[in-house]
Amino acid sequence: MKKDYLISPSILSADFTQLGNQLKLAEDAGADWFHIDVMDGQFVPNISMGPFIVEACRRATDLPLDVHLMIKDPEQYLNSFADAGASNLTVHIEACPKMEQTLKKIRELGCKAGITLNPATSADKIQPFLKYADLVLVMTVNPGFSGQSFMPEVVPKIREIRKMLDEIKPDVPIEVDGGISPASIRQTYENGARVFVAASSIFKHPGGIKAGIDSLIEKI
Ligand code: DX5
Ligand code: ZN
Repeated sequence: MKKDYLISPSILSADFTQLGNQLKLAEDAGADWFHIDVMDGQFVPNISMGPFIVEACRRATDLPLDVHLMIKDPEQYLNSFADAGASNLTVHIEACPKMEQTLKKIRELGCKAGITLNPATSADKIQPFLKYADLVLVMTVNPGFSGQSFMPEVVPKIREIRKMLDEIKPDVPIEVDGGISPASIRQTYENGARVFVAASSIFKHPGGIKAGIDSLIEKI
């Protein structure tokens, strides 16, 4: 069967002393994108990385860089992340009072525009903006940290958003992020997710990065 999904390893759980090597191992093991989690200590209670790391990843791989902005006022930083080599820029509905404008700006910068929502945010909040989005990221944990447990209560929302998209933009994929593991991935696929972000189940797999990617693919 033709592959109809993408794996986007989140470098948040990578060994940063070996970042280039870790990206190469993941790429050789079948990664499709790399997910880069940007946190500002304001929108989420953790601080992670900025454009500098995106630029380093850009030099280490040719795969698309899937940048998830968990920051206040993301509009201020879109130019910097685009210049650093981001392919996708995904912004939170909870952080963007002018979402239509923000998504349009991302496209103007030559990136794919992603919209995302936290577990507690309902699908109708993003509905008016789906027409300006190239991807929809459904958070399956509260953002801020890797290694948290998947929230199964979010699964019906994946299906609900898939239905909304099928009516207006059937080509727009749903990405899921948070607690994606061999135990949780299949239910998200069955409900319409096609892009899978995973940090700990790939980079912390006891058998290594390839074993981590293989164990996810096996369950799809
Ligand atoms: C959570 C981040 C995720 C995180 C996923 O705030 O958006 O991308 O790295 O980590 P795991 O796969 O370990 O839940
Ligand atoms: Zn993320």
